[in-house]
Amino acid sequence: MSPGPWERCFWLGGLLCLSVGSSGHAPPTPQPKCTDFQNASLLWGTKLKVQFLLFVPSDPSCGHLVEESSDIQNSGFNATLGTKLIIHGFRALGTKPSWIDAFIQALLHAADSNVIAVDWVYGSTAVYFSAVDNVVKLSLQISRFLRKLLVLGVPESSIHIIGVSLGAHVGGMVGHFYKGQLGRIT
Ligand SMILES: *[C@@H]1O[C@H](CO)[C@@H](O)[C@H](O)[C@H]1NC(C)=O
Ligand SMILES: *[C@@H]1O[C@H](CO)[C@@H](O)[C@H](O)[C@H]1NC(C)=O
Repeated sequence: MSPGPWERCFWLGGLLCLSVGSSGHAPPTPQPKCTDFQNASLLWGTKLKVQFLLFVPSDPSCGHLVEESSDIQNSGFNATLGTKLIIHGFRALGTKPSWIDAFIQALLHAADSNVIAVDWVYGSTAVYFSAVDNVVKLSLQISRFLRKLLVLGVPESSIHIIGVSLGAHVGGMVGHFYKGQLGRIT
């Protein structure tokens, strides 16, 4: 028997009903929610709040926030496919790159692969020099992230880094940390 509306509430001071459940039935399998790029317009680029967003061929418009190896495995990452990692550049206004959605879709349309967008909007905003200051730190963070893919059995040669503008410098530095063993850097 499904609970009636009152069972979904608890009463506060006899006046307010706070809903404690959704009104519909729960879907049979919980879908991981999609995560978008952050907005950093009001903050000034001192923090490097990096997000790694995984996009897979079965759901090319939904970014899965992946941090730990378990997130990667549970979000449809396929270790037998190639992995493309996109790194954007300086973001003067702290906003999401306007080209990135279409670019992700185009990559997934061209070939089945794992596409990972690196959201470093926070660290890439404010003045150009503060974004440049974050390049080494970001490169180390991406290198640590790639290590988690290697642990899942991803060969270094199947990793393709695509860096734009300042993100290209980051890509080059990650490639340096991997001693030139990554598959490709664009
Ligand atoms: C960022 O700002 C845009 C434009 O105002 C908005 O559409 C989007 O939902 C915001 N994203 C997040 C994660 O808050
Ligand atoms: C991973 O990709 C390969 C090659 O396209 C495919 O044969 C396999 O079924 C995929 N694995 C999963 C779990 O989707």
